[in-house]
Amino acid sequence: MPVKNVLKMGHPILQQVAEPVTEFNSALLDSILVDMYDTMVALDGAGLAAPQIGIRQRIVIFCVEDNPRYPDIEPVPDTVLINPEVSFLSDELVLDWEGCLSVPGLRGRVPRCNNIKYRGYDQYGNVIERIADDFHARVVLHEVDHLDGVLYPQRMEDMSDFGFEQELFP
Ligand code: NI
Repeated sequence: MPVKNVLKMGHPILQQVAEPVTEFNSALLDSILVDMYDTMVALDGAGLAAPQIGIRQRIVIFCVEDNPRYPDIEPVPDTVLINPEVSFLSDELVLDWEGCLSVPGLRGRVPRCNNIKYRGYDQYGNVIERIADDFHARVVLHEVDHLDGVLYPQRMEDMSDFGFEQELFP
């Protein structure tokens, strides 16, 4: 089963800006997506960005349905989002908890824009354009940050809101 090793914070690939995808509907892209899905599902992730499995391309996936790591969250549609662009629709920042498979065992409260528009492509090259708020917006912003070499602790303003899951949520 192609569950890949997830790179951890400190690995140089996680600090790099990923390259745009130039070819859609390809066997290579399909195999990257299979690996990303298998890895995300095996680890109960809400999303995954290609650099987290060592692939420096602008590809993210996300899906939140009955996820034991995020129990009280509204579902987020199962999405492949390639070459995403995000714009902020409000100045309102909301603080909420995030985790990341590249920062295992930890959670932190991260300020994020609560209302965004995002645009990108699916694996066939079809345009995806959506307005998102709350946790959906947070997931997209978190995953797109990975494509620019940013992990959520770098977005935190108060490090007293950073800690181990088992201590924060016993
Ligand atoms: Ni992450």
